[in-house]
Amino acid sequence: MGNARHFEKQKIKLVYIAKNDIIKDGRYLPSFLIMMRLDKFFSEQKILSRKEVADKIKKGCICVNGTPAKKADVKIDEQKDVITLDGQIMAYKKYIYLMVNKPQGYVSSTDDPRDKTVIDLLPPHLQKFDLFPCGRLDKDTVGLVILTNDGISAHNNLSPKRHVKKKYFFTTADDYSDEDIKAIQAGITLADGHTTKPCEIERADDKNGYITLVEGKYHEIKRLFGARGNKIVFLQRVSFSSILLGDLSEGQYRHLTPEEESVFVSNKQN
Ligand code: URA
Repeated sequence: MGNARHFEKQKIKLVYIAKNDIIKDGRYLPSFLIMMRLDKFFSEQKILSRKEVADKIKKGCICVNGTPAKKADVKIDEQKDVITLDGQIMAYKKYIYLMVNKPQGYVSSTDDPRDKTVIDLLPPHLQKFDLFPCGRLDKDTVGLVILTNDGISAHNNLSPKRHVKKKYFFTTADDYSDEDIKAIQAGITLADGHTTKPCEIERADDKNGYITLVEGKYHEIKRLFGARGNKIVFLQRVSFSSILLGDLSEGQYRHLTPEEESVFVSNKQN
């Protein structure tokens, strides 16, 4: 099953299309290309290993559209078929989107020989997914980091062409002036020759405020204030695009809401 079978008989061409094969945009797509094996459905989402799927099938614990599955390699449509395990419906989710509130001392990478990473903030069942941080915060910066295994969306959000806004609360060592605000907002040529893109500063008081960047150069905020003879002593990322850190406690994580996921995936609202 799966392949279209072509028969030429008495110059009449008959095309047999197997169950679940589809024609899309004028192209014939056999089911074996578009559908997923039942054991992959479970293993990809780290619900069960392939061996566990086989055991559960033997015990009749896995059903596809109400019928007990007989084989682990049966093909399913993960978007349409209803898969149950021990009577519980398993919704298919290929990608995971989380936010963590990074505390100081954690690095924004997936593993590190010396330091704790943002992945260490997750419980073991989530650490099994190949999640990585979308962008980096310095070790001493706190706040919002998005973790995902959706490489394409992460790449799109980090692309300099998208101008995704990232907002930070900052505290400086010395008072900053209105001239500092003007200069930083307009863009500053840093020691490495890079001229920063225009940004926005909202003053809270003489030493505190919010800065919104559309790029993410190494130590950018520290270097911007450094170029004005000042020093950043506290930095917290409070939003990424329209996704807000809100009241998530330091060191905690949560799943993005469906609305936040769609902002992250489509990245239309910056
Ligand atoms: N700018 C910095 O200087 N540090 C960060 O962690 C993020 C932006």
